[in-house]
Amino acid sequence: MTGQRDVPEGMGDPLEPAVVDITAEVAPPEIDPAEAELILASATVEEVATAPILAAHNVTKRFGGLVAVNDVSFTIPDGSIVSLIGPNGAGKTTFFNIIAGIYDPTSGRIAIRNRTMVARPIRAWLEPILWVTPAVIVGILSALVFAAANNETVGFLGATVTLVALILMLLTAIARPDWYHRLLIRLGIFRSARPNDMVRAGIGRTFQNIRLFQNMTAEENVLVGMHIKLKANMLDALFSTPRNRREEIAARVRANELLALVGLKGVGGELAKNLPYGDQRRLEVARALGSDPALLLLDEPTAGMNPNETADMMALINQLRTDLGLTVLLIEHDMKVVMGISDRVTVLDHGERIAEGTPDEVRRNPRVIEAYLGAPAS
Ligand SMILES: Nc1ncnc2c1ncn2[C@@H]1O[C@H](COP(=O)(O)OP(=O)(O)OP(=O)(O)O)[C@@H](O)[C@H]1O
Ligand SMILES: [Mg+2]
Repeated sequence: MTGQRDVPEGMGDPLEPAVVDITAEVAPPEIDPAEAELILASATVEEVATAPILAAHNVTKRFGGLVAVNDVSFTIPDGSIVSLIGPNGAGKTTFFNIIAGIYDPTSGRIAIRNRTMVARPIRAWLEPILWVTPAVIVGILSALVFAAANNETVGFLGATVTLVALILMLLTAIARPDWYHRLLIRLGIFRSARPNDMVRAGIGRTFQNIRLFQNMTAEENVLVGMHIKLKANMLDALFSTPRNRREEIAARVRANELLALVGLKGVGGELAKNLPYGDQRRLEVARALGSDPALLLLDEPTAGMNPNETADMMALINQLRTDLGLTVLLIEHDMKVVMGISDRVTVLDHGERIAEGTPDEVRRNPRVIEAYLGAPAS
């Protein structure tokens, strides 16, 4: 064999005859993101509600000359555990980072419940013009009225209203309510979602290399994950209002519930850096759960774990689905984990989706076996 790579445990016998080739599955049609948004605008509430939690359509990501993800499409059905596997450098983490809103794809799009969230921005530079337009219109009108009336009070009022219009539009652009989003679409402006938008849309994630706040306690780490859900504002915090105190108590209770859920009961006061490695990985999961996600992205959650810790993590992932109704997209190298808990498996190699199917179908797929073992020598 040439180009032989490590065969992951549980991958099956490469010499076993191939049974199914599921690589020929039909990919969703390529749709221009702006067009997709207009499709959404005319979609009924039922259509959106029944759409899959996440769908990737022809996603490509280039880093200079390197094609890290190449025309990848797949759908994650609600309540499923879907695994993304492939040899090192296959593009798995890059794909995750696109879903999480960290990278804009070079082409293609990611839709949540049929709504395009991530795609290459279209005319995004027009957005600041939209922010200032109402203020400019109000400003010009007030200047005209001031010129006609020659009254200082009118001038002062005009300037105030102009400033308020500008501040309101800026706040709207930050909060991005639905009507603002629809207005952008009407004007043909598409701005790809950022990580905070994706968290708000119900996506939580962990990282391949643990990225905890090491000098904060376990409980504080989870509270950071919950931040986006908290309603108290800066003034509430400054004056320690009853609302702020109530919310903080509730948040701490929830944080400790989440710690208990992932098997870290009683360690809330420990600094993250003092936790054993396996517990740090669990803490990352608890922090991701803090934002109350519907879809959880786990990037190699069992990396570096011993067999017992791995079995516990598998049980936890299953429990997250059954107890919290979560949908899970998992990147994993440990084939026992992948084959043991996945409903569907998608295989990437050199950025391309080379197979997709049930664990059994994938383990017997000749292209998958070749990707892991290398092509037979001729
Ligand atoms: N920010 C970046 N800039 C340039 N190249 C990148 C960047 N991120 C990833 N790559 C390249 O893209 C390819 C895919 O990397 P990626 O990390 O997505 O692979 P992976 O499948 O997650 O691998 P592993 O199993 O080792 O984690 C690699 O060749 C990598 O070097
Ligand atoms: Mg990776």
